[in-house]
Amino acid sequence: MKLFQEAIFLLSGLLPFTITASSSELTFRFNHVGISVANLTLQRDWYNRTLGFSSLVEVVGPMEMPAAPTNSSTSASTSKPSTIQAVQLQNPTTGAIVELIWLSSSMPASRLSTSSAAAAAVQGLFHFAYRVPDLDRAIRKLKEDGVHVVQPIAQGAPYVNHEQSTFAYISDLEGNLIELIQME
Ligand SMILES: *[C@@H]1O[C@H](CO)[C@@H](O)[C@H](O)[C@H]1NC(C)=O
Ligand SMILES: *[C@@H]1O[C@H](CO)[C@@H](O)[C@H](O)[C@H]1NC(C)=O
Ligand SMILES: *[C@@H]1O[C@H](CO)[C@@H](O)[C@H](O)[C@H]1NC(C)=O
Repeated sequence: MKLFQEAIFLLSGLLPFTITASSSELTFRFNHVGISVANLTLQRDWYNRTLGFSSLVEVVGPMEMPAAPTNSSTSASTSKPSTIQAVQLQNPTTGAIVELIWLSSSMPASRLSTSSAAAAAVQGLFHFAYRVPDLDRAIRKLKEDGVHVVQPIAQGAPYVNHEQSTFAYISDLEGNLIELIQME
């Protein structure tokens, strides 16, 4: 027990030092976006058809998850066993990866919304963005395919090394916001 406490003490003493000392030398390469979904089949098909995520990189489950050890009254949904299933899809052209995860006990988020302003009014991650070479063409095609355009094309803020940008928002089947951006 004493050893254990000393180990904790050591860890808590070392950790902040280690992080401060080396954070500028660490490398963080963007890898994927993860989305908790209500219906894995429908969402997988949507990301496949709409955004060209075609190759299945990884599948988890479906498998049973043990009940989470929690006594908090606010997380009742995690206190019973649930089923989990996850897939990773990759766009073969751009290399972008999206991970879709389904948890049988998950709840719909109150952030799922129909405008970017409403989505931004809830703190936390509110959209992810894909760059497209021709936004007009992309939006026209997506509309034809019945994709919900949440916010039409608008002029964006100037970016470093890019004078002009235009952007629009679409949403997936479950209301997750996806920004499409064109930079000149
Ligand atoms: C997902 O949607 C399909 C097609 O509507 C349906 O057959 C299936 O039961 C749904 N799955 C879940 C987990 O709701
Ligand atoms: C996605 O669609 C393509 C055809 O457009 C198909 O070849 C591929 O198997 C699909 N991938 C998944 C993971 O459903
Ligand atoms: C949860 O359990 C911990 C440790 O057993 C206890 O200290 C805490 O008061 C409990 N919280 C609630 C909300 O019951």
